[in-house]
Amino acid sequence: MSQKIRVGILFGGKSAEHEVSLQSAKNVIDAIDKDKYEVVLIGIDKQGKWFLVDSSTFLFNADNSKLIALNKSGYGIVFIPASGGEFSNLTTHEVCNKVDVVFPVLHGPFGEDGSAQGLLNLVGVPFVGSGVLGSSIGMDKDVMKRLLRDSGIPIVKYRAFKKGDNIDFENIVDNLGLPVFVKPANMGSSVGIHKVASRDEFENAVEEAFGFDTKIIIEEYIEGREIECAVLGNRSPIASVTGEVISNHEFYSYNAKYIDENGATFEIPARLSEGMAKSIQDLAIKTFTTLECAGLSRVDFFLTKDNTIIVNEINTMPGFTTISMYPSLWQASGISYPDLIDRLIHLAMERFEQERSLTSTYLDGK
Ligand SMILES: Nc1ncnc2c1ncn2[C@@H]1O[C@H](COP(=O)(O)OP(=O)(O)O)[C@@H](O)[C@H]1O
Ligand SMILES: [Mg+2]
Repeated sequence: MSQKIRVGILFGGKSAEHEVSLQSAKNVIDAIDKDKYEVVLIGIDKQGKWFLVDSSTFLFNADNSKLIALNKSGYGIVFIPASGGEFSNLTTHEVCNKVDVVFPVLHGPFGEDGSAQGLLNLVGVPFVGSGVLGSSIGMDKDVMKRLLRDSGIPIVKYRAFKKGDNIDFENIVDNLGLPVFVKPANMGSSVGIHKVASRDEFENAVEEAFGFDTKIIIEEYIEGREIECAVLGNRSPIASVTGEVISNHEFYSYNAKYIDENGATFEIPARLSEGMAKSIQDLAIKTFTTLECAGLSRVDFFLTKDNTIIVNEINTMPGFTTISMYPSLWQASGISYPDLIDRLIHLAMERFEQERSLTSTYLDGK
């Protein structure tokens, strides 16, 4: 009889980061402590369908980041609400397994935005990372920045627009200067993001960004270094050493991140004075708590020539391959990749227990 904790690894998904998620999942499965944990693999295809898959066959081209793909050899499954982690075979309707905790190694919309987290809440199973609120705040760049501004955390000057709003280029230039960055509000991986310096470029970028989301943001351009810091914990989170992303492209674009193998390099720890590194770490923790995050997040900063620190964004489920920034920052801070997975699972269970102990009914007069 197995006393191991059964961990459901949820990966793939509908977002542009499907392939990154496959790689992250493979790395987690390879590294997780098999004496302590039994893994149950749940792959989500690009249409959003969920499959129970086998750890020995779940990937095509596992070692080729360009050709890697989900092998849907297993069968479709559906989680059962209020079951505490049971799921059933979509065809036979029989309950086929139960997990004790879920690690959603999912990035971008549907995985990192609170959608999957809401579903797991309804199932009643602990899961790694932020809950519904933290996840959805972290995904919406406009809401995220408003909350940061409200807490006195430095952010870039920006404007948000909904589809149908009148967007006046002259007014934007008067307020934000040129170039500006145009982004869909809810996305990731630099998808749909453009740096623009003319009216034509601006109009094309706005149109493209509205193709990805009904809300977009337009930001002033910040000339500076890109520094990242990893945060880990629930109520008393800790910050890692800092790292720097040095992009070889115009900015840290989708191509620089995923297509061009030499698109960017990481420098860990970042070359910063001790005082500057400490300020960034403190701000990373403040950002994490302000945005209602839990478990893990990577906080990304700009550092200008005159040493002004600006928070660019938070990522509530950052890339999680062994060479991704988040695990690398912890590795450099003394927490190995398998240890990091172990801590995240414990944090998930700790948060679940705390939330479960809350009263959910109110009986008048009792
Ligand atoms: N206001 C800005 N000024 C300068 N560079 C920016 C600005 N906003 C974004 N960038 C560049 O674009 C990249 C992606 O933008 P970001 O807001 O982090 O979106 P994503 O969530 O897709 O990663 C950043 O890493 C940076 O290189
Ligand atoms: Mg980013």
